[in-house]
Amino acid sequence: MSRAALALPALVLAAAALAAPASAADGQQLFNMQCKMCHTGGPMGPSLAGVAGAKIASKDFAYSPALKAKEGTWTPANLDAFLKAPTAFAPGTKMMISVPDDESRAAIVDYLKTLK
Ligand code: HEC
Repeated sequence: MSRAALALPALVLAAAALAAPASAADGQQLFNMQCKMCHTGGPMGPSLAGVAGAKIASKDFAYSPALKAKEGTWTPANLDAFLKAPTAFAPGTKMMISVPDDESRAAIVDYLKTLK
């Protein structure tokens, strides 16, 4: 077998590794760019420390009646639905930012799970 024939599969593998699903590390970058400015625990947005698994709208924050009325906890599925379309998940919510891209959203949700 020639050298070239051996090199080709290696290239394909390298390309596959580059296209690997976004990780929590990517999520952190996205979070820093798109979310952090509001989610400091100040008047702009509730702290997201420990948000994964927490009761919806349970921080010390002036939530909208819409979000306060939501039952349940922030499961990964609820976080995904909220970030995909906040105003569909909780019509009347004060958070208007959405993350339409599936991979970016998954990475952000993975990162949110790491916030303690
Ligand atoms: C412009 C400010 C702003 C930005 C940017 C923002 N948010 Fe929010 N977020 C809010 C506000 C305000 C609320 C409370 C919404 C309500 O009361 O209806 C909220 C609520 C939330 C909640 C629910 C928290 C709880 O305690 O129940 C999550 C989760 C969340 N945001 C995640 C994110 C993520 C992830 C991003 C980035 C993709 C983001 N937010 C970007 C303002 C913002």
